[in-house]
Amino acid sequence: MTDERAGAGPAAAHEPIEGALVGFGGVAEHGHLPGFQRHGGFAITSVAEPDATRRERARAALGPAARLYASLRDLLAAEKPVFVDVAVPPALHAETVAAAIIARRHVLTEKPLATTLADAESLLAAAQRAGVALVTAHNWHYAPAFRAARAAVQAGAIGRPLRIDFVTERTEPAGGPDSWRLDRSLAGGGILMDHGWHQLYLALGLLGAGAPRSVRATTARRRFTQASVEDTAEVTLHFGGDVEAHLVLTWAATERRTAVTLSGDGGSLAIDGARVLVRETGGAQRDWPVLPDAPDDSWHAAWFPPVLDLFAAALASPATAAPNRQEARMCQSVIDAAYRSAARGGDPVALS
Ligand SMILES: NC(=O)c1ccc[n+]([C@@H]2O[C@H](COP(=O)([O-])OP(=O)(O)OC[C@H]3O[C@@H](n4cnc5c(N)ncnc54)[C@H](O)[C@@H]3O)[C@@H](O)[C@H]2O)c1
Repeated sequence: MTDERAGAGPAAAHEPIEGALVGFGGVAEHGHLPGFQRHGGFAITSVAEPDATRRERARAALGPAARLYASLRDLLAAEKPVFVDVAVPPALHAETVAAAIIARRHVLTEKPLATTLADAESLLAAAQRAGVALVTAHNWHYAPAFRAARAAVQAGAIGRPLRIDFVTERTEPAGGPDSWRLDRSLAGGGILMDHGWHQLYLALGLLGAGAPRSVRATTARRRFTQASVEDTAEVTLHFGGDVEAHLVLTWAATERRTAVTLSGDGGSLAIDGARVLVRETGGAQRDWPVLPDAPDDSWHAAWFPPVLDLFAAALASPATAAPNRQEARMCQSVIDAAYRSAARGGDPVALS
């Protein structure tokens, strides 16, 4: 099915919604494509990918009927997909998303939405003008431990959340020391732009305190000293009153670790790997139930179908994705301000 109408919604529920993938790299092959297949409501029928070897991988994964192009421009000249799924390196997001919007295609994009706040705002405004959906993949919301933590907060297990401490430690960037993640011209920033985006929407969601008022940040190159971006960042967000978030990220750790502590006025919870431990004030520590995750799934394909549920709803009505757009704008705005703070030696920067 193709549809030439601007902002056209999906066809009848039983027909898969046809889309194009732009960038057939790691996350497209191992995260998005299996996610689309599990979801069942979508069909990827064309791919834009400049690398011939990667196009062959797309051919192998999608079968002989898939239509492959070397660029999005070539694809859009020949195809009318209902949507475009953007999975290219971050510094290419703004121009790729903009091209899809200009062609009046709905857009699902990998994070970050863009690499500057100005570009993100211009994309959000352009999508609204064109009447097309623009959804950023915030897949970590659907990680079982984070779902469980949100359920514990919503059940009042820790009272009103007041402070989050979020640590993401890795020994190197995904893709290793030769990854584009260490190259500013493709990554647009370092670990803060890469994994910081996930930390931000997760932290903001768990705290539920609305928009931060100010940010302080420092960045460093601890292990990848020749890289053009930081491999380590520390960010503190103030929300007014006594609500605060403290985020630490590094690619210079000795082992992989994700640790979150959320403290409230009625207790605290800790996410330690796949466990969520809740301690109500004066009570004993107990495990909060966490649904099992899909095994051996380092690309988190199992967390992608719920992103597609949101995208399907946004295709029917772009307004449905307003909270996702607000979340993406907030992430971009905090990252922008955090880099400004780091450039000034960690001085606080106010957020509008
Ligand atoms: N949400 C998550 O959990 C998650 C996980 C991994 C990556 N990502 C994001 O996904 C995006 C891609 O990351 P990746 O790990 O798959 O990188 P990757 O390098 O494996 O893949 C990127 C692909 O884009 C292709 N490409 C480059 N320029 C292009 C262009 N102009 N048009 C079309 N294709 C182009 C490259 O040839 C490559 O095949 C990044 O934005 C990254 O931040 C998100």
